[in-house]
Amino acid sequence: MSEQLVLTKIDGGVGVLTLNRPAVLNALSNEVMEALGEALLALENNDAVGAIVLTGNEKAFAAGADISAMKDWSYMDVYKSNYIGGPWETMKNAIRKPVIAAVSGYALGGGCELAMMCDFIIAADNAKFGQPEIKLGTIPGLGGTQRLTRAIGKSKAMDLVLTGRMMDAKEAESAGLVARILPLENFLEEVVKVAQGIAGLSTPVVMMAKQCVNAALETTLEQGLQYERRVFHATFATQDQKEGMNAFVEKRQANFRNM
Ligand code: CAA
Repeated sequence: MSEQLVLTKIDGGVGVLTLNRPAVLNALSNEVMEALGEALLALENNDAVGAIVLTGNEKAFAAGADISAMKDWSYMDVYKSNYIGGPWETMKNAIRKPVIAAVSGYALGGGCELAMMCDFIIAADNAKFGQPEIKLGTIPGLGGTQRLTRAIGKSKAMDLVLTGRMMDAKEAESAGLVARILPLENFLEEVVKVAQGIAGLSTPVVMMAKQCVNAALETTLEQGLQYERRVFHATFATQDQKEGMNAFVEKRQANFRNM
């Protein structure tokens, strides 16, 4: 039987997905992205899961789209198959639960773009980010010119996209791409703890908060503020808002029931 391309483990309310093509630094093929899409949907539909962590291995989160697979494809091959559409976008199109990218090692090209599709990135101190596609005679195709620019601004995005250079975890954190850096030792365990903290909150309210932050990138400030207010009001229709506020007043731990 062939190796599974994406491994799933559930750990204390957190679905941990591990890209599993170490021999090619987790190069992202159509098959990997189909497996990832299916694994993400399974966690999205699992009521026991409140947060998801996506990771690779110490050497590579993912070193990009699979260059060996795509090198000979024609324009018509990629156009007709809508290459980098479909399952490559399951994360964006279908996942409402929070997803943390736990990045150690290389996150290059499609690997950096996949990390940016997640809700936030926690980097190990050995992480390296980059969009090296220009060196291959192509450009980023999974959002690199768009999400990276929104994350770190035009000047730095241009620097990375036009030169193809890598940036280390410190530079990525100070530029705003990475939310936090953690030591490589026990890295995944520590990221899972962060995710377990989120999984212990009200999952529907967490999903509402995620949707509102994402709206900030799609709307004017005024529309975004209106949208946020509406969703804030909507949280008052949940039992979890009552539980959270009563628990605070009663000086006890809240017990959210996702209702
Ligand atoms: N696709 C296919 N195979 C890859 C790969 C990729 N993106 N990245 C690495 N590999 C393979 C290598 O070919 C090598 O395989 P073999 O052992 O069979 O030769 C194996 O992984 C190990 O890689 P290296 O020997 O190159 O390892 P290294 O430590 O010397 O270098 C690296 C590491 C700097 C990350 C280097 O592998 C590298 O530059 N990889 C390519 C990075 C890249 O250009 N990514 C962009 C891809 S295009 C893209 O992603 C388009 C998009 O926007 C979606």
